Amino acid sequence: MSNEIIISPSILSADFANLERDIKLVEDNGADWIHVDVMDGHFVPNITIGIPVVKSLKRFARKPLDVHLMIENPEKYIEDFAASGADIITFHFEAVKEENIEEICNKIKYLGCKAGISIKPKTNQKVLIPYLKFVDMVLVMTVEPGFGGQEFMHYCAQKIPEIRQYGKENLIVQVDGGINDITSKICVSLGANSLVAGSYIYKSKDVKKAIESLRA
Ligand code: DX5
Ligand code: ZN
Repeated sequence: MSNEIIISPSILSADFANLERDIKLVEDNGADWIHVDVMDGHFVPNITIGIPVVKSLKRFARKPLDVHLMIENPEKYIEDFAASGADIITFHFEAVKEENIEEICNKIKYLGCKAGISIKPKTNQKVLIPYLKFVDMVLVMTVEPGFGGQEFMHYCAQKIPEIRQYGKENLIVQVDGGINDITSKICVSLGANSLVAGSYIYKSKDVKKAIESLRA
């Protein structure tokens, strides 16, 4: 595992009327990726943004677009997200049939993206073990997906060491939900090497300091 921590600010907490400004703000202050939360109102009880917005963001984003699909039937939309400029495509274990996981991952990778799989708080990490060899990244949700600004759930972070144990050397383990300068350290010490943070970064007065505090 590389010691580098990948910081992926979530634009869910940005100003949707000023996405270009708010993406530039984090890119200029140490972000590695840009986390884009796609929600369909079915898989999660909220609706955010989709394919046309990703396409527009790609016109100016300089960092890779880390697209987190919180949608039913993600396999239907993978080609469109890849064509729109997604660099990392993460789908939820709970949103697909297990027999399709290998094929979905292969499709994402064939389209030139990194493939990620995510689990919600109530899903046991053991379900992922057979599929770890197909993915580039596992996203461990540390809140119930759907909204920014929720409180970090400690028990979710306890899933990280087992994923690390069974995952390949270069597997990226990402956490998302309630990440701040304290919870980031807990997750990194358990083996996470990518941190998503929305409200902590966008609500801070000094974005550069906030991003540095996650990496520290
Ligand atoms: C929640 C999203 C997160 C969200 C995190 O369902 O997946 O990416 O933006 O927000 P914070 O960092 O505020 O918990
Ligand atoms: Zn997310």
